[in-house]
Amino acid sequence: MAKIIAGVGTSHTPAIGAAIDNGKTQEPYWVPLFKGYEPAKKWMAEVKPDVVIMVYNDHVNAFDFKIIPTFAIGCAEEFPIADEGWGARPVPIVQGYPEFASHLVQSLVLDEFDITIVNQMEVDHGLTSPMSLLFGTPDAWPVRVIPLAVNVIQYPAPTGNRCYNLGKAIKTAVESWDEDLKVVIFGTGGMSHQIQGPRAGLVNKDFDIAFLDGLSKDPEALAKIPPLTYLRDAGNEAIELVMWLIMRGALGDKVDEVYRFHHVPASSTAVGCIILETHEFHQQHKGRAAA
Ligand code: DHB
Ligand code: FE
Repeated sequence: MAKIIAGVGTSHTPAIGAAIDNGKTQEPYWVPLFKGYEPAKKWMAEVKPDVVIMVYNDHVNAFDFKIIPTFAIGCAEEFPIADEGWGARPVPIVQGYPEFASHLVQSLVLDEFDITIVNQMEVDHGLTSPMSLLFGTPDAWPVRVIPLAVNVIQYPAPTGNRCYNLGKAIKTAVESWDEDLKVVIFGTGGMSHQIQGPRAGLVNKDFDIAFLDGLSKDPEALAKIPPLTYLRDAGNEAIELVMWLIMRGALGDKVDEVYRFHHVPASSTAVGCIILETHEFHQQHKGRAAA
């Protein structure tokens, strides 16, 4: 059967993609950030998942303000790269997995999570910058990707608790697919940041570190954080962190943290990365050096 073996939490920004695409990763501003992702990239190259479930948000590129689904799953064969205003990133087209994605939708809807089915969609930096950070710059992505887009753009975003429970339902959905697949789930966005208004540039490192600790040790407590707390304490766009709770919910009770990185700044955001293996996977792979 298919199994979620690990989760990756990581920030996303257009500037990270642009730094990679324009050969700026060795510039002093960017060196610490890309250095921090090296162990994560190495971990991914060793683990070699078959499928990635990418929990991310669209930034008014695939969906405009006419229609904003709260939770949407991409069921297409492939997902072209969005032009966010400076040309589409020169990265490979994202290959989907329509049959598996449709199975996830069915399982989730029957589990009373009303998912929007998306059969055609372009993907923006919310999805592509994490792909570049974890998979580098290959000619083709080495993994199929199921995009799960979450509305964190227009009020009201789903609560952290709803997201955590959706993650649990995703675990059930994956495990009822009768094909041996190694699945890694991503939660992207965050960490603390605000990109607009008088508080633009706001970062709260203590909030971020507590959030990373909570993902490892007490996700139930994180799931209780109300939406306004993210906005007030960690900036308007910190609400993106609820997507990390989908990832965490999908991993089951016991996880082993194998990597963590926190860095400020990358344009206007605090960047965080965490890798959590399910306890079962971790036990099986104890021999492998932790990242
Ligand atoms: C920026 C954009 C994002 O979507 C985000 O989550 C963080 C930062 C930016 O434009 O810098
Ligand atoms: Fe974002």
